[in-house]
Parts: sequence; C-alpha cells; structure tokens
Amino acid sequence: MSAPPDLSALREEALAAVAAARDLAALEEARVRHLGRRSPLAELLGSIGTLPPEQRGPVGKEGNAARRAVEQALTTRREALEAEEMGARLAAERVDVTLPGDPWPSGSLHPLTQVRREVEEIFLGMGYRIADGPEVETTYHNFTALNTPEGHPAWSLADTFFVEGRDDVILRAQTSPVQVRVMESTPPPVYVIAPGTVYRRDDVDATHSPMFHQVEGFAVDEGLSLAHLKGTLLAFMRELFGRDREIRLIPHFFPFTEPSVDVSVSWTDRHGNTGWLEVAGAGMVDPNVFRAVGYDPERWTGFAFGFGLDRIVMVRHGIPDIRLLFEGDLRFLEQFS
Ligand code: PHE
Repeated sequence: MSAPPDLSALREEALAAVAAARDLAALEEARVRHLGRRSPLAELLGSIGTLPPEQRGPVGKEGNAARRAVEQALTTRREALEAEEMGARLAAERVDVTLPGDPWPSGSLHPLTQVRREVEEIFLGMGYRIADGPEVETTYHNFTALNTPEGHPAWSLADTFFVEGRDDVILRAQTSPVQVRVMESTPPPVYVIAPGTVYRRDDVDATHSPMFHQVEGFAVDEGLSLAHLKGTLLAFMRELFGRDREIRLIPHFFPFTEPSVDVSVSWTDRHGNTGWLEVAGAGMVDPNVFRAVGYDPERWTGFAFGFGLDRIVMVRHGIPDIRLLFEGDLRFLEQFS
C-alpha cells in the first residue's frame, strides 16, 4: 500500500517556479511543467481511481485545491509580467512629438515659367486669349504666309534648322507662324498671345542660345491703328516693370508688318543711369498676311508684336548669361523659389 503522494510539496514547487519566472516564456514553461497534461499534478489527478478508496476523497480535494492555487498564481504572475513588458516597450519606443520634423524638399517654378505666367495674366486681363502652335513647323507657316517669300535671307540654312531630308519643314524660328495658324482657323476679330519655344542657329554666347522663348501677340479688328499697338505695349510694360516706364517706337523692317517698329522700354540700371532697352519687334499686320489667311484687308486691320521672354527674365532679375536659364543648376534655380 503506497503512501499518499506529497501534494503540498508539488504545490510549493509549482508556486516557486511561477514566482521565479522572469518573463512570459519562462512562465509558459513553468505552466507546462507543473500544470500540463504530463505534469506530476495532472498525472496524480488522473490516477485517483487507482488509489485506495479512503485516500481518493482527500487526495482529490487537495489536488484540485493545489491546481487552482497554481492557476491563480499563474494568472497573477502573467498579468504582472505583461504589464512589465508593455512598460519596457513603451519606454523603448517612446517618440518625442515635440522634436522638429525632417525638412521635405519642395520644388518651385522655373523663373521663365513664373514670368511667362505673369505675362499671360496681364494679357488675359486685357481680353486676349492664349494660343499655341507646333515647334516643328512648315516653311509655309513660318515664312511664306508671313510675306517672306523663298529666297529671303531668313530662309538661309545658316539661320534656320531644317528637318533632315526636307526643304519644307523646320524648327520654327519665331512664334509668328501661330498668327497664321490662328487666323486660318478663326474669323476676326482676334486678340491672341502665343508664348513658346523657338530655334535659331545663333552662335552660343552669353546672350544667345539656339533655343529660346518668344511671346507673340496680335490683334485683328476694325479700325486698329499704330496708336492701339503703342497703348497696348505701354500698358503691358508698365504692368510688368512699373508705372514709371515709357516706351519708344523706332522704324524698322519685318516682312509681315507694315509699318514695322522696334520697341524699347525706358530703363534705369543699378547705377542710376537711364536709357532705352530694346525688347520687341512689332508693327501693323501686312495686308499680304491677311490675304494669305483669307481675311479681307479692306475691312480688317491689326497689329502684331513679338518679344523675347528670356530677355525679359534676364532684365527683370539681373541675370547676365542666358545659358543659366537652361542648365538646370539648382544653385541658380533655388534663388527663384
Ligand atoms: N517675329 C519677329 C522676330 O522674331 C518679331 C515680330 C513679331 C515682329 C511680330 C513684328 C511682329 O524677330
């Protein structure tokens, strides 16, 4: 006849293991060892039927009490360890929300785009609309329809980029072909500006680039005169450069305007010297251009002008070299953000 198993020793051993567990993994190990299916306590409770009858009651009662006590201790210890681990994690992952953030680089518009938009706003305010045309253009639109017949020096290979293998397709040398395209597709009156990129075989130096930008402007209506051209350009220059500006028109020649003028704006440099700065070509639309696009030159008159946008940006910001505008150097561009 065997002695009753020493339940209180099993119970003390289990409680001691629970108390000694330093983390949740060790606690789980203790649970399996002391309460699991193969633990001495479980085996004992499972074999009560083999005990002498008079021991079954007391051993069963004490065994169940021991199991409940160990379960209770496990729960309490688990809650304590969980709280400890959470505290440690919170401390380790603490974020100081009052620290300044990492700066996020932000881009800005190119100075050419900024000034182009300003120019567009001014003309939109005067009732103009904005038109566009292809940069790969026909010689018809760039020259012939603009009263510039074949053989005129402007056609020369030395000035114009021709598309290889073609004698009738070029990179447009001016924005004036947009005049032709708009008038071909729109009945008068028209008030239009056309900003865009143009190409010429210019020598590359500080003031010339083979690719640059122009803004074309033209108006066709009944009774337009050179006075309207001058008033429009004066209003524009004052809006862009300041109320105190004056403009000056000097006779010039362009094939597609008659009369033609060079337009200068008054200028004061940073030493206080005043002078005139040539900024645009302009004139009254030649009747031959109206004939080419099917407008009646007896009824309609108009003016046109074209200026270099890059030049205006350079003057505006005191930029000495046009190439700076096209190099994409951030040290330059960031000065305009
Ligand atoms: N297209 C001319 C140029 O590139 C400028 C101009 C435009 C002159 C419109 C008169 C009228 O030089």
